[in-house]
Amino acid sequence: MADNILWAGRFEDRPEKKAFEFQASINIDKELVFADIEGSRAHAAMLGKQGIISSETAAALEAELEKIASEISSGALSIDLSCEDIHSFIESVLTERLGDIGRTVHAGRSRNDQVAVDERIYLKKRSAQITAALEKTIQSLLDIADKNLETVMPGYTHLQRAQPITLAHHICAWVCSLRRDSERFADAVKRINFCPLGSGALAGSTLPLDRAVVSGALGFASPTINSMDSVSDRDYAVEFAFCCAQTQVHLSRFCEDIILWSSEEFKFIELSDAWSTGSSIMPQKKNPDFAELIRGKSARTIGNVVTLLTMLKGLPYAYNKDLQEDKEALFDSLDTVQNCLEMFTGMLESAKFNTQQMKASCIGGFLEATDAAEYLVRKGMPFRKAHEASAAIVRDCIAADQKQIKDRTLAELKQRSPLFENDIFDFLDPAASVASRTLSGAPAPQEVRKQIKALRVC
Ligand code: ARG
Repeated sequence: MADNILWAGRFEDRPEKKAFEFQASINIDKELVFADIEGSRAHAAMLGKQGIISSETAAALEAELEKIASEISSGALSIDLSCEDIHSFIESVLTERLGDIGRTVHAGRSRNDQVAVDERIYLKKRSAQITAALEKTIQSLLDIADKNLETVMPGYTHLQRAQPITLAHHICAWVCSLRRDSERFADAVKRINFCPLGSGALAGSTLPLDRAVVSGALGFASPTINSMDSVSDRDYAVEFAFCCAQTQVHLSRFCEDIILWSSEEFKFIELSDAWSTGSSIMPQKKNPDFAELIRGKSARTIGNVVTLLTMLKGLPYAYNKDLQEDKEALFDSLDTVQNCLEMFTGMLESAKFNTQQMKASCIGGFLEATDAAEYLVRKGMPFRKAHEASAAIVRDCIAADQKQIKDRTLAELKQRSPLFENDIFDFLDPAASVASRTLSGAPAPQEVRKQIKALRVC
């Protein structure tokens, strides 16, 4: 327990060691160290400009804060984990080194607005890192899509073979989700881009602070509107945790596809040895552990959203210590999604797609049945009747132990509808099916090329 407790003046007794440690947060909020220093520098500069402290004092504080930041980066100064929180630690170093000058920095400020500004500075930085990681994932997925515009594979609904698609089309579906995830982070940043400093504990300050100057110096759009709101809400933490959870749930679903595809039953993908693990007992095993862990870790990101909402739901206005609990959940989500994006990209970049097997799997599930029905619609038959005719042909095939509609003769097809002509056979193989799906968004190679182009640069 450090000697430099910021609020010790009110108390006759020293706090109970265990109790002090229980309420301390430095183990978690040390993560905010650089954001805290940045916020303090802007605050000190403004105090000097406003004549609340002398300009020499402000300059000394700023210079020392800069020094502290570089010493922490280089490892020359380590964070004293016996302090209560990161704010106390930085102020204690300033006071140790600068004496009374250090004692001036907290004028017009409370840890309540200090932690709120720290989190916002920190989240802007982390959000940029996560969107950069998302961008990397998106671009490497699109590289795979580029090479597989003609790689036909079954598309599934209910995990049953449904209609032919291409690997590129499937991958573009994933990328659409990731694009929205990236936009969601950018959008959440817009809402935190306001500076809470000057809100004090809850009711501002009697000192002539210049909130606009601090806000501008820290790169915020403007100061926040209301001092109580500034220190008591954490909706931004919930929102970023949700952005993380949604991204992670997307990765989880992609991983589920990959886990299925790497099974002996599908054999669509082979993960590289470097991105797989073995079994301690079964010598033959090659397990998709990375994909499973990414899927598994979506659980904690969902849990973190619930943690944050539950923490907030009963809090009276304004600040309550409960809010300190926001950081562990939020940081965990940010770290999880950033790591998982990196893992997911590495795993996929090194994987091999078994395109022959994908193509072969298009035969046998009557994926061409809808094409046959739509052929009849083009010839003038009402869709419901065409559906029945095509379904009857599927039943005929099953009864005759035939794997695909192509295996029937034209005469046999005509028994189900006289509208069938020889050209039906041009529409029944998977590549032809894909090629004729030329609506925007559909799997025809020229359409997917457009999707890739749009997704590359969003
Ligand atoms: N560690 C606190 C938090 O994260 C900082 C604010 C403390 N304020 C207070 N009045 N105890 O919320």
